[in-house]
Amino acid sequence: MKINHKKGNNFGWFFGGRHYDFFATILGFGHSYYEQVASTLPLENGMSVLDIGCGTESVGIAVSELMGGDVSVHGLDLSGVQLGYATDKGKKAGVSLHLYKGSMDMLPFKNRVFDLVVTSVAFCETTSDVRKGAIGEVSRVLKDNAYFAIIDCAKPLLGMDTVMMLPFFMFKENADSWNNHYPDICIENNLVLEKDVYLKSYVKCQLFRKAD
Ligand SMILES: C[S@@+](CC[C@H](N)C(=O)[O-])C[C@H]1O[C@@H](n2cnc3c(N)ncnc32)[C@H](O)[C@@H]1O
Repeated sequence: MKINHKKGNNFGWFFGGRHYDFFATILGFGHSYYEQVASTLPLENGMSVLDIGCGTESVGIAVSELMGGDVSVHGLDLSGVQLGYATDKGKKAGVSLHLYKGSMDMLPFKNRVFDLVVTSVAFCETTSDVRKGAIGEVSRVLKDNAYFAIIDCAKPLLGMDTVMMLPFFMFKENADSWNNHYPDICIENNLVLEKDVYLKSYVKCQLFRKAD
């Protein structure tokens, strides 16, 4: 697996693109998981949504499908392989995606342009410095009172899938999420925790709102 140690794990060719979706589905991150993610998000018609570390953009496609296409979906990822497959998936699903290659700690957007930013199991693939930079950037590109959803590996609840998945996430960069540091980093960036729910026994969604 090719790892860019500076900015994060880009999954390379073997674990990227169509292969990524194959392995993700086997590990429980298939279509129904992304439908669950979309239904957890505070969506409204006409929203401008950004997904950072979007991978093959399963989140953005599920969000667009749930909203009948009445959202503008933007995705950013380190990996050209992931983004290439996301483009194909978007076309097949009839979903219009605006995709950008780059790192989440340097967002190529103006201030206060998004209604919702989401990141799904991508923070655990970066470093602590990148995550901090990304949270600062998210605060910058969000409109006042807009939302930020961090979905990430979290301190596991006791459960069968926790035991099965332990080998996959115990080596990730997840100290911030296991020790619940995101609310502290977010509040320093004017993002206030509103909701905290487990989507799986080892994956949490923390929803923040930008104070005006
Ligand atoms: C586990 S995948 C998750 C993909 C997608 N969000 C999902 O839920 O299926 C993590 C993704 O984060 C991307 N990534 C890692 N570090 C990144 C960074 N610094 N900036 C942007 N993307 C990054 C990887 O290329 C990969 O596509």
